[in-house]
Amino acid sequence: MQTRITNTIEHAIDLLNQNEVVAIPTETVYGLAANAYNSDALVKIFEVKNRPTFNPLIVHTYSLEKSFDFVKEWDSELLKLAEVFCPGPITFLLPKKEIIPYLVTAGSEYVAVRIPNHSITLELLKNIEYPLAAPSANPFGYVSPTSAEHVYHNLKGKIPLILDGGPCSIGLESTIVGIENEEIVVYRLGGITLEDMEKVVGKIHQVKVSSSKPQAPGMLIQHYAPKKKLIVTNDLEKYLQLYSFDKLGIIDFEENRTDKPVIHLSTQKSLTEAAQNLFQVLRQIETWNVDYVVIEWLPEIGLGKAINDRIQRAASEIINF
Ligand code: TXA
Ligand code: MG
Repeated sequence: MQTRITNTIEHAIDLLNQNEVVAIPTETVYGLAANAYNSDALVKIFEVKNRPTFNPLIVHTYSLEKSFDFVKEWDSELLKLAEVFCPGPITFLLPKKEIIPYLVTAGSEYVAVRIPNHSITLELLKNIEYPLAAPSANPFGYVSPTSAEHVYHNLKGKIPLILDGGPCSIGLESTIVGIENEEIVVYRLGGITLEDMEKVVGKIHQVKVSSSKPQAPGMLIQHYAPKKKLIVTNDLEKYLQLYSFDKLGIIDFEENRTDKPVIHLSTQKSLTEAAQNLFQVLRQIETWNVDYVVIEWLPEIGLGKAINDRIQRAASEIINF
């Protein structure tokens, strides 16, 4: 199969209407999209990604009003967040209508709903009759794509079209929220920070994400791993003193002085910039001629929490002092 790259929606509309999968840009990461109402189309997403079907998919639409096509009702607290942050990098777990196949929700009565903040994709969604189910457009277990080139590199020959909307402005996946016992629960930290949400709905007590910055040193289960060993530490300076003879590379948060290969997540200690760069950097280090790469946790504030969560998932070992 030839994979084409385009920045206009016409060809994407045709393919989606034929129940094909198309890669689409969003402000968070690129998605691998198909008709959320059609099981034949949905199966192709799982095949292309090599993703187990017990892992549910986020459904993308263009407005809160339109979401009522497939959502039974909006909880009032979640609606407050949606009114402030949509379109944007936030996803809501809501009771689904029958029209959503269980293949989308992995058997759950709740569907994940997101209104992405990207002009091309919003235009695409307005020009089709159905919402789009879309996981991140990476092979299962690998780093998420933040550009059309990333998608091409990973999925060329497997999908017919990539809609190119430029580099992703946020660079981290959406924050996922839901309701349990009338309280807001955060299931994934992402583009909208806890602090931002708390300004709208008050203190959020339930954050059910695996600790974004584990204290204990040790080996980690890798989830979104680059093909290069990554070690994370709480003291880069000390690490470099202790292991100065290792053939290692460095990912740092600001300009650093060293004779080793080094790449900066940000040049001005900006968490926004670090988020934009992280996945690109994790791909870049794979080309380095080093035994492994070391990175330091970022500050646990704002986007730093979500970035540390992704660092933890990409790393194979923690060395904290
Ligand atoms: O930013 C994003 O959210 C990107 C873009 C493409 O929209 N999408 C994305 O999808 O990150 P994915 O499939 O890589 O991650 C979706 C997460 C999964 O961890 C999944 O378990 C959770 O959302 N999820 C989806 N539907 C769910 C449901 N019905 N119940 C519980 N969790 C759900
Ligand atoms: Mg993903």
